[in-house]
Amino acid sequence: MSTDFIAEPVVAIVVAAGSGSRLGAAVPKALVPVAGVTLLRRSLTQLAAGGVQQAVVVVPAETAELFDADLLDAPLPVQRVVGGAQRQDSVAAGLAVLPDVIADAEALVLIHDAARAFSVPSDVVARVIDAVRSGADAAIPVVPVADTIREVDEAGSHVIDRTRLRGVQTPQGFRRSIIEAAHAVLSDTGTPVTDDAAAVEYTGHEVTLVAGDRLAFKVTEPLDVALAVAVAGGAA
Ligand code: CTP
Ligand code: MG
Repeated sequence: MSTDFIAEPVVAIVVAAGSGSRLGAAVPKALVPVAGVTLLRRSLTQLAAGGVQQAVVVVPAETAELFDADLLDAPLPVQRVVGGAQRQDSVAAGLAVLPDVIADAEALVLIHDAARAFSVPSDVVARVIDAVRSGADAAIPVVPVADTIREVDEAGSHVIDRTRLRGVQTPQGFRRSIIEAAHAVLSDTGTPVTDDAAAVEYTGHEVTLVAGDRLAFKVTEPLDVALAVAVAGGAA
């Protein structure tokens, strides 16, 4: 085997610290089972199969202990940390423990929503990793938008050219130094962003698009659980 090239390690920050208010389940959304396997467990399995070696799982402060059982025998080494009020705060909490998890300053960092359980590994996860390994500052999976979209304001509404729009998924991949610096700037300036690629874009980096997969949909409402169960091919 050649030892000429040793690939950088890949670590994932899996954010699972939301309240899941739109789903309204009895347990935190990431612990909702789909065909007997939680969304979090499914996410970790897909990430590991796609080339991720370690994970930081960010959980809600109030229900942190509920995650312990699900993280036993996880498919990859996992560190659990407590998140914050907004998704961006939870990502920052995950980034803050990276030095404890991995020494390599040039590691690749993937940031993933636990609520997206089906990031087909040979497909979405691996494509994101490949793009960052090939030099992208940030790589994000996107899909075409199926619905016609209208922009609405006080004056009324108008249609937007759908062919120019993309839906953004996770995992989003970054060179470690770039995502750490971007989140530091956001926190210093108090700038809110809706995803991590936006953070990196805010600090002047280009975002590379790779093909996502409609299977990497986010479980948001009860109908999405039914869809996930159907995709998993089992009973809830
Ligand atoms: N998330 C997080 N910390 C927050 C808010 C969200 O880690 N303060 C995570 C969620 O756990 C989820 C992902 O970000 O995996 C995407 O968020 P979303 O789907 O909106 O989940 P929730 O915020 O939990 O759901 P809702 O908005 O319906 O309350
Ligand atoms: Mg939310």
